[in-house]
Parts: sequence; structure tokens; C-alpha cells
Amino acid sequence: MRAFLLIVAISVSSVSSATSASSQPPNVATLYRVHCVMCHGPMGKAAIPDMAFIGRKWKHGTKSTDMIKIITEGVTGTPMMPFRGKLKPDEIKALAAHVRSFDKTLPPEK
Ligand code: HEC
Repeated sequence: MRAFLLIVAISVSSVSSATSASSQPPNVATLYRVHCVMCHGPMGKAAIPDMAFIGRKWKHGTKSTDMIKIITEGVTGTPMMPFRGKLKPDEIKALAAHVRSFDKTLPPEK
């Protein structure tokens, strides 16, 4: 458990430094923990393969703009609900980059 928390802490600090351009970067790891982890699992390692972000092909595209669209609009007919109105656009943007970063097979985006 302690090792897991450490890994989360490290990923938080690397993500927040990457997004520190905006004046108040949302704490993306907290957002993920509150809104996403129950389905998508820590670091995107979900118990249910359909909800994992790693170890399978992305269904809806691998660009962070694709992920922003999914998080904003949801996927009709699946448990993936739209987060429009629940999260601010910059929070959704940060979450898209965050879940994308779980998949180390993807090249970094410019
Ligand atoms: C109630 C469960 C649930 C919650 C909560 C949830 N998701 Fe999902 N999510 C899913 C499911 C199921 C899918 C797969 C949809 C499909 O089959 O197309 C999915 C798909 C996605 C995808 C597209 C994956 C791909 O393969 O292209 C992204 C990105 C995503 N979710 C991000 C998030 C983020 C970020 C959050 C938190 C803000 C979140 N999800 C919260 C269930 C959930």
C-alpha cells in the first residue's frame, strides 16, 4: 500500500509540473481518484479489461483530444458517463492527459 501511494505521489508531481503553465493547475490525481478510479483503476489498471487504459487498444482514439471528447460526452450505452457540467473544461483536459500518460506505449504529445 505504501509503495502504491508513493507511485501515485510521484506521478502527481510529474503531472502537475507538466501542467504548471496554468495559474491554478487542478490536482489531477485527486480528480482521478474521486471520479474515475472506481471504474478505471489505479494507474488505469482496471480489474475489468474493458475499463483498463493499459494492456489493451484504446477504443476511441489515442490523442488527448479524443479522450477529452469521451470524458466530456461519455459513451452512450456504457457506464462511461458524460462529465460535462460536473468537471471544468480544464479539469477534463488535465484528466485526458493524465489517463493518456498511464499508457507508456503512446508517444508523448507535443
Ligand atoms: C461508472 C464507471 C466509469 C467511470 C466513473 C468513468 N468511466 Fe471512463 N469508461 C468507462 C467504460 C465502461 C468505458 C468504455 C466505454 C466503451 O466501451 O466504449 C470508459 C471509457 C473511457 C475512455 C475511453 C477509453 C478508450 O478505450 O478509448 C476514457 C478516456 C475514459 N473512460 C476516461 C474517464 C475519466 C477521465 C473518468 C473520470 C473523470 C472516467 N472515465 C470515469 C467507465 C467509467
